Amino acid sequence: MATLFDTFKIGEIELKNRIIMAPLTRSRANDEGVQPEFTVDYYTQRASGGLLITEATNVSPMAKGYVRTPGIYTADQIESWRKVTDSVHANGGKIFMQIFHTGRIALPDFLPGRQLPVAPSAVKAAGENYTDEGMKEFVVPRELTTEEVRSTVQDYAKAAKNAIEAGFDGVEIHGANGYLIQQFLSTNVNLRTDEYGGSIENRSRFLLEIVEAVTSAIGSERTGLRLSPGGEFNDIKESDAEELYEYVIGKLNDFGLAYLHIGTFDQNRDWHPVLRPLYNGTYFAGVGFDKARAESVLAEGGADAIVFGKLFLANPDLPERFRIDAELNEWDESTFYTPGEKGYTDYPTLAKAAQV
Ligand SMILES: Cc1cc2nc3c(=O)[nH]c(=O)nc-3n(C[C@H](O)[C@H](O)[C@H](O)COP(=O)(O)O)c2cc1C
Repeated sequence: MATLFDTFKIGEIELKNRIIMAPLTRSRANDEGVQPEFTVDYYTQRASGGLLITEATNVSPMAKGYVRTPGIYTADQIESWRKVTDSVHANGGKIFMQIFHTGRIALPDFLPGRQLPVAPSAVKAAGENYTDEGMKEFVVPRELTTEEVRSTVQDYAKAAKNAIEAGFDGVEIHGANGYLIQQFLSTNVNLRTDEYGGSIENRSRFLLEIVEAVTSAIGSERTGLRLSPGGEFNDIKESDAEELYEYVIGKLNDFGLAYLHIGTFDQNRDWHPVLRPLYNGTYFAGVGFDKARAESVLAEGGADAIVFGKLFLANPDLPERFRIDAELNEWDESTFYTPGEKGYTDYPTLAKAAQV
């Protein structure tokens, strides 16, 4: 019976526990997508997690959908991340980079030459996005040509290679939460008539080509993937979600990935019991877990490890707090995405709290 504190292996690396830090966008980078020095402290403080998954990181200039998000496509970006991976490793941690492209969720404000964002089809998302000039409505994106779809696949592979160059133990492809990959998987944003649209097989092609390209570039043992089946975040609809993910997971079974991370905001359904039995590899379950629920899912074999978001954000020493059932710090939503160290590197560990 697995517990949160059992070690286990993903690919070639040994994780010291099954408490995983979720990818969390924190918007502390500069306008060139370079991380500040204090990002090194933020991740290092959390190095006691079994695996840290970084915030979503842009694979190319066209991928950028949020203010102050980091990238992994320039030498300076790679250099700033190398300081993070060196320090996490020196402190006994393991770290994967989550790589993404936001597709239609971007605004011209973030893109080179204030271009329109790109998407499978010219379908605008309902809602607004944050800019330094205030909230702005999403825009009608430009449909990618078939040629551009293929070159975007290569952007993910290049980003993965750059992440390895920056010292990461692997990458997590972000196929969740309504960004470009899930826009292709969806039935409401993907209205394409080429081989990337229509049938489940065609809508899954972009994702599976990325998985193929990234695993070829850096190895399947260093490649993870996050999916959010049935999740409607960022105005996504998957009218055939169950069939779609059954097909996708069937295909993923052939890749021998480091892990599959399922973390979905679907109020109507708990997907873990549906998907876990379909997948033959390492399975991470996330969203809404506390210690008690994590322990019971692990004990039932419902996952191999559990991913914690807001709890890890607010508790740099989360594994130690779980181990001794210590009180947990509360998270402060007002500093989730604000520049600077406040609400980022200043959540106290138990040891620090004891000194005050
Ligand atoms: C501040 C914040 C930033 C997030 N950024 C990302 C991200 O970059 N990539 C991602 O896949 N999910 C992101 N998420 C979702 C988290 O990974 C996680 O699924 C979510 O917090 C729910 O898990 P929890 O209940 O353990 O907090 C973010 C969530 C929060 C609160």
